[in-house]
Amino acid sequence: MADQLIIFDTTLRDGEQSPGASMTRDEKLRIARQLERLRVDVIEAGFAASSNGDFEAVKAIADNIRESIVCSLARANDRDIARAAEALKGAARARIHTFIATSELHMEKKLRMTRDQVFEQARQAVRFARNLSADIEFSPEDGYRSDPDFLARVIEAVIAEGARTINIPDTVGYAVPELFGQFIHDLRQRVPNSDKAVWSVHCHNDLGMAVANSLAGVMIGGARQVECTINGLGERAGNCSLEEVVMAVKTRRDYFKLEVGIDTSQIVPASRMVSQTTGFVVQPNKAVVGANAFAHASGIHQDGVLKARDTYEIMRAEDVGWSANKIVLGKLSGRNAFKARLIELGIAFESEAEVNAAFARFKDLADRKSDIFDEDILALVGDESVTAEQEHYRLLALSQRSETGERPHAKVAFAAGNTEFHAESDGNGPVDASLKAIESRVQSGAELMLYSVNAITSGSTESQGEVTVRLQHGGRVVNGVGADPDIVVASAKAYLSALNKLHSKAERVAAQG
Ligand code: KIV
Ligand code: ZN
Repeated sequence: MADQLIIFDTTLRDGEQSPGASMTRDEKLRIARQLERLRVDVIEAGFAASSNGDFEAVKAIADNIRESIVCSLARANDRDIARAAEALKGAARARIHTFIATSELHMEKKLRMTRDQVFEQARQAVRFARNLSADIEFSPEDGYRSDPDFLARVIEAVIAEGARTINIPDTVGYAVPELFGQFIHDLRQRVPNSDKAVWSVHCHNDLGMAVANSLAGVMIGGARQVECTINGLGERAGNCSLEEVVMAVKTRRDYFKLEVGIDTSQIVPASRMVSQTTGFVVQPNKAVVGANAFAHASGIHQDGVLKARDTYEIMRAEDVGWSANKIVLGKLSGRNAFKARLIELGIAFESEAEVNAAFARFKDLADRKSDIFDEDILALVGDESVTAEQEHYRLLALSQRSETGERPHAKVAFAAGNTEFHAESDGNGPVDASLKAIESRVQSGAELMLYSVNAITSGSTESQGEVTVRLQHGGRVVNGVGADPDIVVASAKAYLSALNKLHSKAERVAAQG
């Protein structure tokens, strides 16, 4: 039987460290549920000791996720580890992931500790953690740039203390595949008790080689866990991308000869959810999850694919969750058909009231757009992170005038709680005028950090526009998403959705405080 490759997802911890990508507790829980549907083996839910918000997020995920192992990061000290254990109390299966830097550069300049001190702290930390959880992972931060002799000494000691997983990070994305694979291989040879732990790799993408390095760590080095994120989200150039590693191993099973437990049909929904929640748009030519990943524009390719699909396709779009722009529902579809489609798409609602609210939005959209695709439905139900009670601001109506040579003007009616507001403003364009009109009444004082528009379904101007707005206020950063066939309306919805999050005080949590 083929070996199992453990997929450790760190979207909610390392991915979230990407500036602007931090998420609220409810957003994280929603993504964790999708990661569970994707059947990842381990979900790194956050860094419990870094803030109260992150503690609550890890706790909520631990309390709700039943299938995947739920993990919290912790620095190698008793306080962090105890906090992680506390947050993980409700988990069906919990893991504490503790780390300390082992490269000369990090030890001397960042930690200001000697080798012996780091060695001792790593050992004590794992000993302490082992008393609180059976499943301990240890990472020597900046491991790839560490002295192999010292690294081997630390790893031998932490395995002896009970660490079950040894994760080697290429923290700064400096590795190249062959050398990284060899590094892991040699390290395993050097550590006398290496067979007592699962070896793992954690690669950053600064030179665009995180996936290649991770796979070399597996094939040359013998690692059996890969740490990765959805869409490769993460600080700087990001982390190793989950969808690329998984599809490489699945598609080239002849070479890798490894099993992964992932339900690949949940990859695209997971990618969409992460990009929608964080506002980090997926580039169209991104492997597996980019909008063009399965699009064939050239005549020769189209002809080939029509004659025999595998002339130019090595994976099937539907296997990774693309629904091929199927027209699924329309104006005449009833509530039952809508609900059945939600179930097929893996969308779970907590209550019938939520289904009813989503169905009302669907009817409203179907009145204005003849063909409703799966992507439209996903966008429609996408922003569940602001619950009905938290929906303080609601768009009621919008009209705008723009004409060549004239300054655009917008009138917006919106509700704030039970009060109805009417506002108007000029602007550089209709979107600018609409957002200025809203802001003139709300006076949030928030700074607009990001505004982006995407077509939800490709290939037609009838598509809905999906707008993401990122606002910053008083040290908090929130994303709002709005979808509508009219992108000015979508923009106003996105702006109000971001204002709702600021208003709801849903704390966005920074993983590493
Ligand atoms: O990149 C890194 O070194 C990390 C560790 C904390 C695992 O994220
Ligand atoms: Zn990292």
